[in-house]
Amino acid sequence: MVSSLLKGKRILVTGGSRGIGKAIMEFCASQGATVFFTYHQTLPDSSATADSKDAGRNQSTSPGHFPDSCPCDVRSEPDIQAAVAEATEYMGGLDVLVNSAGVLHKERIQELTQQGWQDSIDINLKGLVLMCKAAAPHLREAKGCVVNISSVSGIRGTWLGVSYAASKAGILAVTKSLARELAPEIRVNCVAPGPVETDMLDQFADNNAREYFRKRNQLKRIGEPLDVAKVVGFLASDLAGFMTGQTLVVDGGEVML
Ligand SMILES: NC(=O)c1ccc[n+]([C@@H]2O[C@H](COP(=O)([O-])OP(=O)(O)OC[C@H]3O[C@@H](n4cnc5c(N)ncnc54)[C@H](OP(=O)(O)O)[C@@H]3O)[C@@H](O)[C@H]2O)c1
Repeated sequence: MVSSLLKGKRILVTGGSRGIGKAIMEFCASQGATVFFTYHQTLPDSSATADSKDAGRNQSTSPGHFPDSCPCDVRSEPDIQAAVAEATEYMGGLDVLVNSAGVLHKERIQELTQQGWQDSIDINLKGLVLMCKAAAPHLREAKGCVVNISSVSGIRGTWLGVSYAASKAGILAVTKSLARELAPEIRVNCVAPGPVETDMLDQFADNNAREYFRKRNQLKRIGEPLDVAKVVGFLASDLAGFMTGQTLVVDGGEVML
């Protein structure tokens, strides 16, 4: 059923092929938005590798739900510019940018590699900033907003990887800085999830770790991608019209700001 929380909104989601980004894309579409998403290599519901732009086309045509997509490596500014141009052309403008693309390199300090550090910063932080840079003129025109996906790792730190924590902490500062710089036309907010059931969690959590994650929050469960998507939908909607520069933590109450 299509609801109307995001009716008329034109939303670009990075990293929409899997996990949290995919849930955001689907939730926004279910709320009446037109959605365009980017992916790096994985096509949604497919194991195929995208080697051409047309290979990424999602042909869904259900009412109120017209997702389209293109490949975009957020390490590449030309890729980003092309994706924003394609999204705005497809949707006729841009009201919301959701930066969800991200990677986690599980490297403790003694295992830290140049590649791990570079990827974390380039994908999670620099890519997000360059997306904001490319999207800002369109968002300004629409009086739109940005929703960034950080992590509780950026707030409380993590034993999982110093480069991940650094990149996610950077997003908190970028959110506040851009909220100031792009106001009053563009709102910029952030969501910081705790552990969420996605491929990324599989990368670092076995059953014991999952049990530990469950126990340490107040609601005694691990997050689902939809838990995050609903909060992103709220921040993207007019309900959050007087909010900017804020980070909402979605982690079952482990971290309390
Ligand atoms: N899962 C968690 O526990 C958790 C907790 C806190 C925060 N987060 C954050 O939530 C966001 C989504 O995470 P997730 O768990 O959904 O991860 P995921 O399932 O591993 O999905 C990662 C997404 O990022 C895209 N991506 C990876 N490298 C990219 C690149 N170079 N350029 C463009 N896109 C790229 C992937 O595209 P392909 O599919 O094409 O590879 C995919 O769509 C991330 O920013 C992550 O840090 C996750």
